[in-house]
Amino acid sequence: MSEVKEELTGDMLPGIGPLEEILTIIGLLYAGKVIIYALWDLLIGFRAHVWSRLWNKRLVENYGKWAVVTGSTDGIGKEYARQLAKNGMNIVLISRTMEKLQKVSAEIVEESGVEIEIVQADFLDGRIIYDDIAKHLENKEIGILVNNVGVMLPNPMDFRYVADREIWSHVNVNVASVPAMTKLVLPSMISRGKGAIINIASIAASGPIPLMGIYAASKTFVDYFSQALEWECRGTGITVQTVNPGYVSTNMTSMSDLIHRPSILIPTARTFVTHSLSTLGYTARTSGYWVHGIQTHFVQNFISTWVFKYCMYLFNCLIVKNLKKNQEVLGIF
Ligand SMILES: NC(=O)c1ccc[n+]([C@@H]2O[C@H](COP(=O)([O-])OP(=O)(O)OC[C@H]3O[C@@H](n4cnc5c(N)ncnc54)[C@H](OP(=O)(O)O)[C@@H]3O)[C@@H](O)[C@H]2O)c1
Repeated sequence: MSEVKEELTGDMLPGIGPLEEILTIIGLLYAGKVIIYALWDLLIGFRAHVWSRLWNKRLVENYGKWAVVTGSTDGIGKEYARQLAKNGMNIVLISRTMEKLQKVSAEIVEESGVEIEIVQADFLDGRIIYDDIAKHLENKEIGILVNNVGVMLPNPMDFRYVADREIWSHVNVNVASVPAMTKLVLPSMISRGKGAIINIASIAASGPIPLMGIYAASKTFVDYFSQALEWECRGTGITVQTVNPGYVSTNMTSMSDLIHRPSILIPTARTFVTHSLSTLGYTARTSGYWVHGIQTHFVQNFISTWVFKYCMYLFNCLIVKNLKKNQEVLGIF
């Protein structure tokens, strides 16, 4: 017994000497970093997701009378429009399908009794649509802009099979719409000294995603542009928020049950926006939903870019295997 004790308390790695101390210090520094980052993220998460809910959102007083939501006839955009209207804001709905615009407008008017302006525009058309949108926004006190409109590939695929239309969609809808819409509302927000711009990027902006490369790259643009704009707008009274959601159960994710069936990991658009809207004014960059916040923390702090790419590649292959519809899938297997 005493021999065993001696063995345990004695020099277990003879000859390691000063190296042992160096390794201990490195270990302690690493553990300290992990703990500090986790505590910081917990604090930010608490402020964004718990503290924020204790207070009334006075959106009209804080930001202005009207909210503009792009891509507002379905999914996350439709929910932002609904929930902003429930907070008393008039809404400008911008989307491409007139029947859906009219239907969503009628639903919101019935539910909240606010004023709605409909703008039919296809963001794929690029530069030419913005003069008309600007006319609809004239003489309105735009308090909040939600840059939500976005597209994704119909399913994961090798880039060489991505159609030209998809390329221009990602560029004009996901990328160009964000600065172009921001340019339309920012000057009047600055002159009033209040307003908020919410940019919907994605957790996909966390790293390169094989088989969805063009989508992830387009969301990285939104993430970086939005963070830079937030910095530039400090001191002007304008809030700029970047929202990077994980999977949400919407049309966009309807290709496979793996990313569409609602669960604690995959909220409905209603649950997601209830959480994300409550974070407005409490954090400049958020996943919007606390479970996605935990996912983001792990991706950003514990996973190397190589591991991220490899895992996302495997996951996208799995999605292709589980496609709901009998779609034609090119170039993966
Ligand atoms: N769902 C997710 O898991 C998820 C995760 C992270 C980030 N996001 C981001 O969240 C945003 C909203 O996604 P979602 O899932 O709510 O999408 P969604 O359900 O597919 O809805 C997209 C909305 O945008 C409109 N739209 C699409 N292309 C358009 C175009 N060319 N011109 C005008 N309007 C257009 C659609 O109008 P129509 O009804 O006429 O098609 C629809 O109202 C996107 O930016 C997306 O990248 C989504």
